[in-house]
Amino acid sequence: MSYNLLKGKKGIIFGALDEKSLAWKTAIRCHEEGAEIILTNAPVAMRLGEINKLAEAINAIVIPCDVTSNDDMLNLITKSKEHFGGGMDFILHSVGMSLNMRKGKSYTEIDYGFNQKTLDISATSLHRLLATAMKEDAINEWGSVVALTYIAAQRVFPDYSEMADAKALLESITRSFGYHYALKKHVRVNTVSQSPTRTTAGSGVKGFDGFINYAEKMSPLGNATADDCANYIVTLFSDLTKYVTMQNLFHDGGFSFTGVTQSVIEQMEK
Ligand code: NAI
Repeated sequence: MSYNLLKGKKGIIFGALDEKSLAWKTAIRCHEEGAEIILTNAPVAMRLGEINKLAEAINAIVIPCDVTSNDDMLNLITKSKEHFGGGMDFILHSVGMSLNMRKGKSYTEIDYGFNQKTLDISATSLHRLLATAMKEDAINEWGSVVALTYIAAQRVFPDYSEMADAKALLESITRSFGYHYALKKHVRVNTVSQSPTRTTAGSGVKGFDGFINYAEKMSPLGNATADDCANYIVTLFSDLTKYVTMQNLFHDGGFSFTGVTQSVIEQMEK
């Protein structure tokens, strides 16, 4: 169902790899709500993924951008302004990758070269995006930027490894840059902390099946789905949430504020 919440709005969506991606679902929902969209992903991911299929379905153009490259970021922002004929109203940062996890290195034995790259891709890239957008004056008054995060930024989930540190940095950049962008142009910046979700990045976490089942049992509403995550992001891009900024917003079926549930107690009593 469409409410025309984003009618006339324009935005960039990072990170749609395949149909499971949170960004993919969000792009479809934003389109349904009337937005005009530019899709972007790393050049290598674009070769692997199916982004052109999505682009066709939602009538979007695709501009490649490795989020660790200043040149790529500037190119994306300037080309997007050209395409839209001016500034944009929203941006979704849905990007994350852990090199140490990929190489099977545990948290206590990480390679610091890989670690730097992980932090750059998964967190500093948000700063690079916001700084480039600010310099190029690419986001319209009362625009909205959302980045996706996970509760491992606040609590220990051992197998989330260095990504926990990356998410803590991402949330900190959200607050710090959110302050400056609010003053400069009333642009709001928030993170959405999503339930574990079966996507390529999600399933890359060791022991993911146990992880997602535990979260399901520990969430009074159950795990939030990818489609519902997309719905929530639409509200944050809409004019109905103009004064929400610098927040980490849990979209997790109540997991973050639950100590224990009956279902987990029963499991422990078995
Ligand atoms: P996904 O694997 O579909 O998306 C991750 C995206 O990051 C991919 O499109 C990938 O190509 C992109 N990416 C990686 N390196 C890049 C680079 N150098 N430049 C540009 N793009 C790059 O998985 P998902 O789950 O949709 O991930 C999206 C975001 O949601 C991530 O930030 C992830 O940490 C976050 N998240 C995911 C949860 C889950 O359980 N799946 C839970 C909470 C947050």
